[in-house]
Amino acid sequence: MQNTPYRLLCVVGARPNFMKMAPIMAAMKEAAPEIDVCLLHTGQHYDAAMNHQYFDALGIPAPNINLDVGSGSHAAQTADVMRRFEPALDAEQPSAVLVVGDVNSTLACALVAAKKGVRVIHVEAGLRSYDRSMPEEINRILTDQISDLLFTTEREGRNNLLREGVADERIHFVGNVMIDTLRRNLARAVPVQDILEQAGASNLLAGGKDYAIFTLHRASNVDDPGTLRGLLDTLATVSKSLPVIFPMHPRTRSMIEKGGMARLLDPARILQLPPMGYLEMLGLMRDARVVLTDSGGIQEETTALGIPCITLRNNTERPITVTEGTNTLAGTDPANILAIFDEVMRAGGKAGRIPEFWDGRAAVRIAQVIRGWIKGEMEPAALAA
Ligand code: UD1
Repeated sequence: MQNTPYRLLCVVGARPNFMKMAPIMAAMKEAAPEIDVCLLHTGQHYDAAMNHQYFDALGIPAPNINLDVGSGSHAAQTADVMRRFEPALDAEQPSAVLVVGDVNSTLACALVAAKKGVRVIHVEAGLRSYDRSMPEEINRILTDQISDLLFTTEREGRNNLLREGVADERIHFVGNVMIDTLRRNLARAVPVQDILEQAGASNLLAGGKDYAIFTLHRASNVDDPGTLRGLLDTLATVSKSLPVIFPMHPRTRSMIEKGGMARLLDPARILQLPPMGYLEMLGLMRDARVVLTDSGGIQEETTALGIPCITLRNNTERPITVTEGTNTLAGTDPANILAIFDEVMRAGGKAGRIPEFWDGRAAVRIAQVIRGWIKGEMEPAALAA
């Protein structure tokens, strides 16, 4: 049976998936060379700025398969991924499908695989915000329920999964693959001055080196004009104390334009940029005084970098960034956000420490577990056949 072909079909769909998949693919090649790894991109994100830039910067091989699904309502997008994923799965006949994170593509591909009896591996399992109005929370819960092998980034993830009836032996605490990518690439991060120069905005920091980063893209924050306006007004107040760099998600840009809110952003104090590439964003975060965001990944990256993070949400599925890291939950109430911001300006913000296993080796741990598991699970079946 030495030549039994084991194949792992890895799925990415949206921007936050790419930096998670990069170290996994590299580690599989290194630690499990006998497993054939194939990459499928659903095409949920398709703009170059949300997409190709990441593949190039992170050295991710071009996808073997692209489903080109694009945007749509949650139902339409999820259904499109499912419909297009099924024939790809039939053609590839993988031993298992590996999905990461919590985007619509994650759930859609996991669901198709599980229903066809193909084993599912979920990386970044067990995170819970306990807020079911968040589409990602639904994706997380359902993906974890139908996964055979679950890798968690923090210890609390196991407890969340056990409470939902996931069998203990399926769960492996391995650490955070996103931080593998951060550590690997920190030395290559693009300096903030280079980014400003390229944007023709070198004088933004003329008054000193300090600046804030602001990012916003969650549906709950940008789709409701009242909430969006409150957050932009808050940003305007913040920018009176510190210049702000604001890389803008396409969804946010379109909502600001639709709502006629661009005039709230003083261009002398707030630099609007297109979505940044990975190395650019890393450079911006590394040297920032403070980051205000509603992103999940940025909460983790700022904790790893030791930069204070003010999260513009009432909850987080990544509680370790609050209990151990540099993150503070501010919600969306302007007074609360500004009180926390003032405290960071006065006292420097939380120092934090690096969580357990956020050490750059999570993907290697994952590859080792997958190697043993795929072989253990598949060989008896192959022998019987
Ligand atoms: C998705 C994920 C979210 C993740 C985010 C990172 C889900 C449910 N949400 O949200 O968890 O944090 O990605 O960005 O999967 N658009 C473009 N170009 C693109 C992609 C999107 O212009 O390449 C615009 C379209 O108008 C689209 C909108 O952004 O309708 C939303 O895109 P979508 O993929 O549905 O969700 P995100 O908000 O990006």
